[in-house]
Amino acid sequence: MTRKKKRVIAFIVIALLIVYMIMIYRNLQIRVYRLETPLLSENTVIRIVLISDLHSQIYGKDQSPLIEKVIKLEPDLIFLTGDILDDRVPDTGTLLFLSGVKDLAPMYYVTGNHERMSRRFEERMELLRSFGVVILPDAYIETEVKGNEIIIAGLDDPYISWPVDKDQSEIMEKTFRELDQRKEYKILLAHRPERVEQYLEYSFNLIVNGHSHGGQVRIPLILNGLYAPNQGFFPKYTGGLYKHGGTMQIVSRGLSDMEKIPRIFNPTELVCIIVKSGK
Ligand SMILES: [Fe+2]
Repeated sequence: MTRKKKRVIAFIVIALLIVYMIMIYRNLQIRVYRLETPLLSENTVIRIVLISDLHSQIYGKDQSPLIEKVIKLEPDLIFLTGDILDDRVPDTGTLLFLSGVKDLAPMYYVTGNHERMSRRFEERMELLRSFGVVILPDAYIETEVKGNEIIIAGLDDPYISWPVDKDQSEIMEKTFRELDQRKEYKILLAHRPERVEQYLEYSFNLIVNGHSHGGQVRIPLILNGLYAPNQGFFPKYTGGLYKHGGTMQIVSRGLSDMEKIPRIFNPTELVCIIVKSGK
């Protein structure tokens, strides 16, 4: 075999290997995080399913592959952290999804930039409410889960018009400062992960975000994401668990692969957070 032929074969093998690796990294993943807190009564286990950045994408017939995965995770709470709907595509995927999960657990939602961009904003919020979704626009609620009082807070997306975002320091101070006195387990839902320094000024135990889509292009162990909106190139908060002292931040890599930059080594993901009583 000539040297040229060997090179061509080697090139084809490497190219096929890369395509194969990209393909196996494309299937929807379930990522589970396990947390402990002394703020829950003994033997409590709370299962949270985190849905972020669905952008009304449809997974298979009638959204059933996605719905079935959520059912199997047996959630006590479902969090929807923004960009569930999209200003550029019909709402069908989200409507199918919500009708399939609405009876599983209470659903709490905050807006993302793509809902804020929508000309049909109020109509879409009504649509979410019609499935029993609780919208938390710069607000918090107290609720009981398995005999434990917990606090679930939500921060509205700061989008005004690209690239201008709202300064939220005043509204956060007005809404969340009073929570410092509270001893319950406190969770904040907010679409944007890169504003975490601001969130950390308050006494939340858990912060959940989306928005970054995993940084679109990832190389295992080498590149933690190439680009994320509002973070630019080589972003920090692309997906995973970030520990800030006693506060845990979990960023979802999102459920949509419809962006202009393809997702490489960056499968869409369904996040499950299991919070147990403990240290
Ligand atoms: Fe977003």
